[in-house]
Amino acid sequence: MEEVILTEECPTPEEYIALRKLVGWSIPDPSAIAPSLRNSHYCICARARGEIVGMARIIGDGGMVYYIQDVIVEPSRQGEGIGRRLMDRVMEYIRRHAVEHTIVGLMAAKGKEEFYERLGFTRRPNEKLGAGMTIFWDPS
Ligand SMILES: CC(C)(COP(=O)(O)OP(=O)(O)OC[C@H]1O[C@@H](n2cnc3c(N)ncnc32)[C@H](O)[C@@H]1OP(=O)(O)O)[C@@H](O)C(=O)NCCC(=O)NCCS
Repeated sequence: MEEVILTEECPTPEEYIALRKLVGWSIPDPSAIAPSLRNSHYCICARARGEIVGMARIIGDGGMVYYIQDVIVEPSRQGEGIGRRLMDRVMEYIRRHAVEHTIVGLMAAKGKEEFYERLGFTRRPNEKLGAGMTIFWDPS
């Protein structure tokens, strides 16, 4: 198996779409993809022979709130520790930049909660916190 190298860069829109397709996620409106990626605080890619095999990114306000988004490892390379390596780099970035009471959030995909619990995230809802909530916007 080719060595996987992590690079601190955003994927291209084409790479981003390809990764999302590989894990069966919907594709956002193309006009939103390039600016969204560009406006990330931090992106990390996993590459094998230069080809993208995974990514993760952080969005947020740069101080009080960071939100982790698009943690993806292509299915044929899952279970090799790549997701953990990507998240270690994401958490390293947050450790360097977060201040007291900074909120670090994410919406775990179904069945992925434990992956994030191992990194210190708390599952919701619980006795103190309500459920995370989402709208997948449909302008029609
Ligand atoms: C979630 C995802 C990023 C994990 O990446 P991965 O490279 O397969 O994970 P790793 O091999 O780095 O696993 C790291 C550890 O987490 C564990 N783990 C991975 N997925 C897990 C899951 N769904 N539930 C519980 N533990 C999990 C692994 O067993 C491993 O444990 P270990 O350190 O004791 O060996 C990957 O499965 C993926 O891309 N899934 C599709 C997209 C997705 O749902 N992303 C999450 C969006 S919130």
